[in-house]
Amino acid sequence: MKKIVLTGSAGRLGSHLREPLLEIADALVSADLVDDFGKLHDRETYVKADLSRLDEMTEVLKGAEMVVHFDAIGDKAPFDAILQSNIIGCYNVWEAARINGLRRIVYASSIHAVGMHARTENIGTDAPHRPDTFYGLAKCFAEDLGSLYWDKFQMESVCMRILSCAPVDNTRARFLGYRPKDNAEQFAESILAETPPQDLNDPAHLYQGGPFAAVEPGKSGLATMNIIDDTKKL
Ligand SMILES: NC(=O)c1ccc[n+]([C@@H]2O[C@H](COP(=O)([O-])OP(=O)(O)OC[C@H]3O[C@@H](n4cnc5c(N)ncnc54)[C@H](O)[C@@H]3O)[C@@H](O)[C@H]2O)c1
Repeated sequence: MKKIVLTGSAGRLGSHLREPLLEIADALVSADLVDDFGKLHDRETYVKADLSRLDEMTEVLKGAEMVVHFDAIGDKAPFDAILQSNIIGCYNVWEAARINGLRRIVYASSIHAVGMHARTENIGTDAPHRPDTFYGLAKCFAEDLGSLYWDKFQMESVCMRILSCAPVDNTRARFLGYRPKDNAEQFAESILAETPPQDLNDPAHLYQGGPFAAVEPGKSGLATMNIIDDTKKL
């Protein structure tokens, strides 16, 4: 591909995608809101752009074939902040992609779009929406945008429901060429040996969304998790 745009490129996940995306594109445009992005790879440029501005996103996507959309507010936030960055922001990305004639959007969706399904359900990639927070609700909106823009404009979207190792069935992702290289089962014995028995009446253990399923919408699910900042810097 000639040009790929990566949004959320300064974030925890996006920062790890810069190098692999450069392997399949002549040029990578990394976009985010941060002022200090740090060093750039060869063939990479950085653009500061706000998702909540359609004019800015339209400018960023000019001449691109594909956008990999990883910008978002990733946890608790008042509904209005989620509305601007994650709901209006997604509309702006899909609409800017349509205006510029992009072929494909790859979107970082989340398990939290389906987080209120019980862990015992062994859900697959076709699980219906059951969001666990306003954050998850915004992911449902974005997935439905992808469906709408396919039906009306034949624009292709791939929505990946990213999650930690959990009991889900993703065999239907095979048609994308996805072939897992690792197997979480090999760690199960040692993890279970160190983990106290879980109270299955606690929504944080009962539902796919984990801690997000246990908090009120708008409250922090991440606060109860041990998240390591592994953002990749050059
Ligand atoms: N990290 C996970 O485990 C996980 C799991 C499921 C889904 N996701 C999704 O993956 C994507 C990336 O997650 P992450 O963990 O890297 O998040 P992150 O918070 O580390 O990065 C998100 C980036 O988006 C940018 N951003 C936020 N609002 C913006 C706006 N209005 N305009 C422009 N940029 C804005 C931030 O500056 C940040 O660099 C998000 O969509 C998130 O919802 C992450």
